[in-house]
Amino acid sequence: MAIKLGILGSGSGSNMQAILDAIEATQLDAEIVLVLSDNPDAYILERARKANIPAEVIDCHGFRTKFPEKAQLHIAQQLKEAGAELICLAGFMRLIKQPLLDTFPDRVLNIHPSLLPAFPGLRAWEQAVNAGVSEAGCTVHFVDAGMDTGPIIAQAKVPVRPEDTAETLHARIQKEEHQLYPDAINKIVATYETTSSQE
Ligand code: GAR
Repeated sequence: MAIKLGILGSGSGSNMQAILDAIEATQLDAEIVLVLSDNPDAYILERARKANIPAEVIDCHGFRTKFPEKAQLHIAQQLKEAGAELICLAGFMRLIKQPLLDTFPDRVLNIHPSLLPAFPGLRAWEQAVNAGVSEAGCTVHFVDAGMDTGPIIAQAKVPVRPEDTAETLHARIQKEEHQLYPDAINKIVATYETTSSQE
């Protein structure tokens, strides 16, 4: 049975699109049941609506960066009502805390544009260029209450070239992200299937 995904994003939504493309290409047995964004202008909402996926704005009660508990409780309920079984953060820029994590224990994933534990936090690709490293990449991991600290599921590496700007490096990382995220979801879903067949 296709696993039901809830997606949270704040920006363009290219990772959500990659998940959707993998579903349409039957490379991923999943269904996106709800897309939520804290940014009413985020293109991820438009992409979702174009694909006839319910898409809604999260009311963060006027907080610019904080994710208030009340808002997290509300979306936890919305995601449950939509039937979501696995939550995928796809460029979501607020820190998730207990209300959501407790509702979906070990079922919240994130994609981060660095080889964690290196460069957690914002604009990781820029941090990599500024640090002068020769290798960068992306990581899919389980979300815990820390910032980009949960157990790692999968990583992909890309070279950092001497002529790279933050933007060219981010573009190279994003190309890998679009492959890595659907693959990592597949890997996690396969573990659920193994567990349930053993029960
Ligand atoms: C992606 O590169 C993702 O890894 C990053 O934001 C971008 C969103 O792009 N996420 C983070 O930095 C989270 N800390 P998208 O909206 O096109 O998927």
